[in-house]
Amino acid sequence: MSMNVQHARLMAWVQEIVELCQPKDIHWCDGSQAEYDHVMQLAVAGGMATPLKKRPNSFLFRSDPSDVARVEARTYISTPSKDEAGPTNNWIDPTELKQTMTGLYKGCMQGRTLYVIPFSMGPVDSPIAKIGIEITDSPYVVCNMHVMTRVGTTVIEKLGTDGEFIPCLHSIGAPLAPGQKDSSWPCAPIEQKYISHFPDENLIWSYGSGYGGNALLGKKCLALRIASAMAKREGWMAEHMLILRLTNPQGKQYHIAAAFPSACGKTNLAMLKPTIPGWKCECVGDDIAWIKIGPDGRPHAINPEAGFFGVAPGTSYESNPSAMDTLKENIIFTNVALTDDGDVWWEGMDGPKPAHAIDWKGRDWTPESTEPAAHANSRFTAPASQCPVICPDWEAPAGVVIDIFVFGGRRASVMPLVHEAYSWDHGVFMGATASSETTAANIGAVGNLRRDPFAMLPFCGYNMGDYFQHWLDMGDRFGSKAPRIFYVNWFRKSPEGKWLWPGFGDNSRVLKWMCERVDGKVGAVDTPIGRMPKPQDLDLSGLSIPEADLKELLRVDVQAWKNEVPDIAKHFAQFGDRLPARLRQQLDDLAKRLG
Ligand code: GTP
Ligand code: SPV
Ligand code: MN
Repeated sequence: MSMNVQHARLMAWVQEIVELCQPKDIHWCDGSQAEYDHVMQLAVAGGMATPLKKRPNSFLFRSDPSDVARVEARTYISTPSKDEAGPTNNWIDPTELKQTMTGLYKGCMQGRTLYVIPFSMGPVDSPIAKIGIEITDSPYVVCNMHVMTRVGTTVIEKLGTDGEFIPCLHSIGAPLAPGQKDSSWPCAPIEQKYISHFPDENLIWSYGSGYGGNALLGKKCLALRIASAMAKREGWMAEHMLILRLTNPQGKQYHIAAAFPSACGKTNLAMLKPTIPGWKCECVGDDIAWIKIGPDGRPHAINPEAGFFGVAPGTSYESNPSAMDTLKENIIFTNVALTDDGDVWWEGMDGPKPAHAIDWKGRDWTPESTEPAAHANSRFTAPASQCPVICPDWEAPAGVVIDIFVFGGRRASVMPLVHEAYSWDHGVFMGATASSETTAANIGAVGNLRRDPFAMLPFCGYNMGDYFQHWLDMGDRFGSKAPRIFYVNWFRKSPEGKWLWPGFGDNSRVLKWMCERVDGKVGAVDTPIGRMPKPQDLDLSGLSIPEADLKELLRVDVQAWKNEVPDIAKHFAQFGDRLPARLRQQLDDLAKRLG
């Protein structure tokens, strides 16, 4: 491959890593289809990928059972002092961490190809975009980065001789001795995994995992952890948010950015098919938003990614038809089940279960099996351009103007379907105290309730107390142009454990209420926790929902909320002096309103 790289710093960095990791050869990625095909064929030949007979140019990977999700416990924000990383991040002193990891990187690519992936987060011509260079020894990472980011020659051209780039070093941590047979998903054991960030240097070092956000370093590592620290320094925002455009029957457009924790409904909301007539939804992004104040003083958001790395289980024509139509070809599937006719399957897909399949561990599976056929965090990697409801402006260099911010989480009780903030500060308080049950997107216990502020708990690259202050500062700068803020919970359950709200396409009913609130066209009642719709304020036409369920969805359980107050106080206390006084004030105000 001949790529004309004229960038001395880049060449020097690659040379340094080659000497450290000792790969058998080097491949500079040009981002071409031929390159994708070539690298994918290597994965197929090596037994890592299975071509799917039923879906053109689509492949199934099965990971090692130990390497199935992000590893928050092994993720580090390595700032000079622990205080800069804050109480919610793991911290190791940078000198010590670099020493440990350099030891691991020594010779770690023996017997493997080192790939250099020049990539852009955001359209290459966008002033909001940033360039990263990922070095990896994983063909799986190369193919996924092709889909998830903009890779190749145009990025090298934009870099020129001395452009800025964020170095992202990745190794699966499994050198191959001469003659040694490779495994189908090589990786390192958990105690050798490190997902490390050096925000002061805009540097990422990842070792030992090949999965998702641990390995596709443009996503959580660059576009959230490093970018959030840059954004704080430079006065913009990097958020774990979907971006969608909603158009009402009169043709008025609203742009909504919503932050929910991992596996709590962003991809589904981003591609929503409204069940209310005349409303249209288009997807700008499903996971990350980079937001800058435009010349008009308003928040302009871009989606820095080029693809979706979406949760497979639960995705169906019933729940998310647009996602299903996105998945027809050119897809990488990871840890889903393989059917006998050469297609994929996962729990929650439409139609009957297959009578027989191969599960994500490569074993025979039947409906009688006691374990799910697909891993709960199995994923699809899909080009965003294939989504039938992709917004025509999804690659607009200047982004789209946000009207509404939404926070949320997964909570079986306490949190009502929707409530609206009284003010920007109250909205920031809602974000700062957001709570959710943990999911399979991280290795660890599932279903544990935790505070996940702004859905950024695992993704904030600096002290979360300072991040809260940054939100307040941004609100001050937006002034009267600040978006309205709402909080939603699609996941409230009855005592018997059934969902009270139908969710998915019917979430459009809640979004409609928000848009009409912005326009001052619909009512609300003041409650101790915020403004809420009365049942008649929601468009429920065509929906049959038991009155008692609706009442429960819109109920503020005052006693339960009184119990939240000391828990929020405890959550806030961990930030010490770094907790903005304005948020403590919000907690006092909430306590007063609860009486
Ligand atoms: P990440 O990619 O991990 O950031 O997740 P995400 O926030 O994009 O979540 P996603 O949309 O993939 O949804 C995760 C799971 O929640 C899937 O199994 C969905 O089927 C389910 N889900 C999404 N929206 C709803 C909803 O409105 N109601 C219910 N009951 N389930 C939902
Ligand atoms: C998440 O966990 O929020 C994801 C999946 O979007 S991963 O890319 O693995 O981080
Ligand atoms: Mn996510």
